[in-house]
Amino acid sequence: MSFCVAIDGPAAAGKGTIARAVADHFGFAHMDTGLLYRATGVKTFQGLSPLEAAQNLRAEDLKRNDLRTGDAGQAASRVAAEPEVRAALVDFQQAFARREGGAVLDGRDIGTVICPDAEVKLFVTATDEVRAQRRHAELRGKGERVTLEQVLEDLRERDARDSARATAPLAAAKDAVLIDTSEMSIDEAVAQVVALIEARR
Ligand code: C5P
Repeated sequence: MSFCVAIDGPAAAGKGTIARAVADHFGFAHMDTGLLYRATGVKTFQGLSPLEAAQNLRAEDLKRNDLRTGDAGQAASRVAAEPEVRAALVDFQQAFARREGGAVLDGRDIGTVICPDAEVKLFVTATDEVRAQRRHAELRGKGERVTLEQVLEDLRERDARDSARATAPLAAAKDAVLIDTSEMSIDEAVAQVVALIEARR
């Protein structure tokens, strides 16, 4: 049986952490769909067009160490605004969403475009300041030299571009449950999501 949990929201809201914990809890497979766009964006640095980069994505492209940098995030957000790039990545994500045994996907358009009939849809948010602090700590932890102000500006720029684009913009599905993690620990958020999934299984 398939069971799809769709988790959307802006950058650094806690989607990925919640998605991984929930997938572990239920034994579902997890896909961080942002990595597809990050890997596509990074491939364009080598001279490929965004569409060529998306069409030629390989498993090893998703394992590169430089995908979590600020530059990769910005490149991802630029290629993600191109409809043909998104179209090239749809089948892979939809097949994953409907695999046997359950799947959790996190991204920007999972509940709206990739899996509109997902059994559970979540829209995870937090204030800009909280998201910037979390991302800043994460990047500093990896040795990236970046200020909190730069991270905040970067997130706001990316969210604005992701929300304003014509194709599959960042938006909550009408039937998504909103989870604001600004004043919640990850454990609390995960417990809330686990209870929600239990109720619909
Ligand atoms: O989630 P993450 O920050 O890794 O995503 C990087 C970028 O990829 C986002 O800013 C967004 O432009 C794009 N993205 C998207 N649709 C998704 C996942 C990510 O457009 N489902």
